[in-house]
Amino acid sequence: MNTKQLVLSKLQYSSSYISGQLLADELNVSRASIWKAINALKKEGYNIDSVTNKGYRLISDSDVLSDKEISSCIKDYSEQVNIYTFKTVTSTNSLLKEMYDKGCPEYTLIVADEQTHGRGRLGREFYSPSKTGIYFSLLLKPDFTVSSSIKITSMTAVAVCDAINTLTGINPHIKWINDIFVNNKKVCGILTEASTNFESGELNYIIIGIGINISTINFPDNISDIAGSLNCNISKNLLVGNIINNLIHMYNNFSDDSYIKKYKEYSLMKDKEISYVKNGSIFTGKVIDINDRCELIVDDHKGNIITLNSGDISIKSF
Ligand code: BTN
Repeated sequence: MNTKQLVLSKLQYSSSYISGQLLADELNVSRASIWKAINALKKEGYNIDSVTNKGYRLISDSDVLSDKEISSCIKDYSEQVNIYTFKTVTSTNSLLKEMYDKGCPEYTLIVADEQTHGRGRLGREFYSPSKTGIYFSLLLKPDFTVSSSIKITSMTAVAVCDAINTLTGINPHIKWINDIFVNNKKVCGILTEASTNFESGELNYIIIGIGINISTINFPDNISDIAGSLNCNISKNLLVGNIINNLIHMYNNFSDDSYIKKYKEYSLMKDKEISYVKNGSIFTGKVIDINDRCELIVDDHKGNIITLNSGDISIKSF
């Protein structure tokens, strides 16, 4: 991280004013470098209050999306990721699909502060208001077949949970297969869309779309019971960068199944009574386990053990 990013990070984690001298001492740089970094941050749109004899304080709603900042937070793969940031888009998944059609490379990343037509699974809408959430999509061009796509979905859930946990200390949980919950409320949804070559079964592309509620308070009536937010002061650039770094790392080590252990630790499914849809009918059962292919193992209360590898499930009570 450069001085500007380090200063930003210090300000983000402090609720009170920090003096220029303290910043300079802690970061082992000159007062002039701190002053330069503060001015650069202000130019980028960060709302920093400066008070004589007190120092600097970041006004909490100032977190400006920046491709440069995101890139520097994608530690290991920043060179490979092409980042586009937008204030508002219809849907980052839809826009990325259009860019794929025009030939954009693997690891194109689109990040938006707002979506006017955010899309969820099963044709649902994903509520994507500006400022209080972050919405982004990554393009992959894998050389594996569609049967492996469940793995990328579950890897993404682990990448998100690891980033949230590392950066905020919050303990997130995964509701199978890839909804992220904090305090029994859904704070993040993941939509994985793919296209396959019909003859070879190989994937042309996978677009992974991730939407995170950071500080949204008022949700539409139809989701107000289930939706929640991280409710913490975190840099969106840092959060996106960290998730993408985690995700590309797992994708590059696709045959390494050790992430399943983490998936299970984050999972909130064990022993839950659920209802699920199979072949158009609704069933109920109790979750026994998640296997090494990330499939859900369910006791249907009729003496059968069912393995679910896709579909929508509801938990009867948390
Ligand atoms: C779900 O929970 O049903 C999945 C929600 C996925 C939302 C994300 S936000 C970024 C990307 N763009 C979209 O239109 N959807 C995904």
